[in-house]
Amino acid sequence: MLIGAVELMMKHRSLFCLYALVTLYGHKGVLSQAPSYGERGSDLGIQVFQQVVRSKPLENVVLSPHGVASILGMLLPGAHGETRKQVLNGLRYKKNGPYRMLKKLHKTLTAKSKQDVVLIANAMFSQEGFPMEEAFVSTNKANFQCESRDLDFSNPNVAADEINEWVNNKTKGHIPSLIKADMLDSALTRLVAVNAIYFKGLWKSRFQPENTKMRAFKGGNGNVYNVPMMSQLSVFSIGIATTPQGLKYKVIDLPYHGNTISMVIVVPYEEDTPLSRVIPHISTATVQSWSKLMHMRKVHLLIPKFTADAEVCLEAPLSALGITDMFSQDKADFRHLSAEPVHVSKALQKAKVVVNEDGTKASAATTAILLARSSSPWVTVDRPFLFLIRHNPTGTILFMGQINQP
Ligand SMILES: *[C@@H]1O[C@H](CO)[C@@H](O)[C@H](O)[C@H]1NC(C)=O
Repeated sequence: MLIGAVELMMKHRSLFCLYALVTLYGHKGVLSQAPSYGERGSDLGIQVFQQVVRSKPLENVVLSPHGVASILGMLLPGAHGETRKQVLNGLRYKKNGPYRMLKKLHKTLTAKSKQDVVLIANAMFSQEGFPMEEAFVSTNKANFQCESRDLDFSNPNVAADEINEWVNNKTKGHIPSLIKADMLDSALTRLVAVNAIYFKGLWKSRFQPENTKMRAFKGGNGNVYNVPMMSQLSVFSIGIATTPQGLKYKVIDLPYHGNTISMVIVVPYEEDTPLSRVIPHISTATVQSWSKLMHMRKVHLLIPKFTADAEVCLEAPLSALGITDMFSQDKADFRHLSAEPVHVSKALQKAKVVVNEDGTKASAATTAILLARSSSPWVTVDRPFLFLIRHNPTGTILFMGQINQP
């Protein structure tokens, strides 16, 4: 699950600017060759992830690259001048191109497919009486199915409850709470933009809970931990890739039921190669290049069961990537969002990923699988690894994480 929130606050000085609105639908969407819009947005998110793990090389980190792109995509139609340019550059979107594609992407991701569940909920909660531009509201409604609601932030407790209840409703109870009252400023908060993603996928090939055993995992800090390792003998798409520095790493693709979404696991090949040497090399282009190196193989796969959650402040990583003005009281230019000058005071993302056997309905009939004699090789993920949850048709990275200790 992922939650992103951006809070806009009034600037202290008040300027009233009335400018003509940019025509957001004026041009034909630039149909891209590669990379797709999903990939571009994910690329910025991957860069944000890399910024974050650089400062936390030994921790577990989870982030939604798509969530980062979504929250910026929601703010984009309100931005002008340098503020807008920085976001467009970060997302690598062309001036008027992204909206149609974003809309399509959002539709594809949330389409009712068999067993995978992707719930995405977007909303803007604005202070009652805050003069929001009509075009900004309607653009976000069209592109992100983004709801707009009035709230009274002068009572932060009530406002926070209302936002949390909305998210809880929209995510069918999977994300019960998003913000705390102390994140809101009773006098200055004008708008809270929310993007929540919940993903639940059933493995195409499930792990049998009976085969989960405690096994050794050598953590990022060098200590050895006993952790529950799931295992199965099955056919997986597996490959070995190499960084430009010549470091080898294994790539394992674990498809979810329905085949449109996969979890891709990346683990250094040599035990003494730290994960941090491989991560800087990951981009949507590298992810795409793996498909040429992957082959279907029957293996005994062992991977840890894990739960990871993290809250990431986006301001520092986005600033490091050149998206700075929106956070500046003096420089932020959201004139197409409101005539009242505002800036982004907080941008954070909360993500949680639970990986388990997903075998609640697994029958005893197949439990013998691991006991079958076979010469299949063992593939064991028993040291720090990276995972990517990828929507394959669009190349969108929904979630990405670094696991140092399951
Ligand atoms: C959440 O759902 C309940 C029941 O459908 C409804 O009464 C309530 O108004 C909803 N809350 C929000 C904030 O949308």
